[in-house]
Amino acid sequence: MLVIRDAAALRAATQGWKNQGERIALVPTMGYLHAGHLALVARARELAPRVIATIFVNPTQFAPHEDLGRYPRDEAGDIAKLEAAGCDLLFAPDVATVYPPGFATRITMAGPAEGLEGTHRPQMFGGVALVCTRLFGLCAADVAVFGEKDWQQVMVVRQVARDLALPLTIETVPTIRAEDGLALSSRNAYLDAEARQRATVLHAALQHAATRLRAGAGAEEACSEAEARLSEAGFRQVDYVALRRAEDFAQMARLEAPGRLLGAAWLGQVRLIDNILV
Ligand code: PAF
Repeated sequence: MLVIRDAAALRAATQGWKNQGERIALVPTMGYLHAGHLALVARARELAPRVIATIFVNPTQFAPHEDLGRYPRDEAGDIAKLEAAGCDLLFAPDVATVYPPGFATRITMAGPAEGLEGTHRPQMFGGVALVCTRLFGLCAADVAVFGEKDWQQVMVVRQVARDLALPLTIETVPTIRAEDGLALSSRNAYLDAEARQRATVLHAALQHAATRLRAGAGAEEACSEAEARLSEAGFRQVDYVALRRAEDFAQMARLEAPGRLLGAAWLGQVRLIDNILV
């Protein structure tokens, strides 16, 4: 696997592949890779003969009080995992390569970026849209693969790709979970043993709410019940449990079309998010 940090070397590699008519699948990540990321690489390998993974902890999607400075990192471990997964190239740029001096573009997102994560992390989706657009261009990607764990992010990235007529398609891979249901996330590394046990309640509460919705309960009732379960289980704060229409992320008062049930809650200083199809 090539490990490349600068844009010119990346262009030389991608240009060589394109000259041979080879398509490129991209897996953008912030590193500290787990089985969920490796499932994205596996899907990327099915989609194109060349696979690029990126590792970049993107400062524009973090607010000043968030965990940018302490985001977990293990580049050597990540390289070994990507090699074993059959990735062709790792692009691991520094901040000045992604946002060179004089970089002046910002992206403001409405639509699927509004509400839920957009309310609790207002800087997040503008930053995600910006870095993804930049990485898509730098990597000359024909397809990019994202995890369904960050469902709202998927909706936002699809919207940007459509609105800006970016010449690539967006593919998704279902969330990979631990045996007890917890969605894999690099941020799970922040959980101590006790919090790790309690964390399983997030998925369980979403599943219970899904059962209630399927039985005809209204979204408000089913979601408030799930929020109460989380509080009872020791979550310090519940940011939201909410039902959205899967197709366009619109709110639904009850389950009248395929939906996504999404939740975000805090265990101590650790914020967990999850979602399921319902
Ligand atoms: O999901 C992530 O890891 C990040 O938000 C992404 C898509 C790599 C953009 O920085």
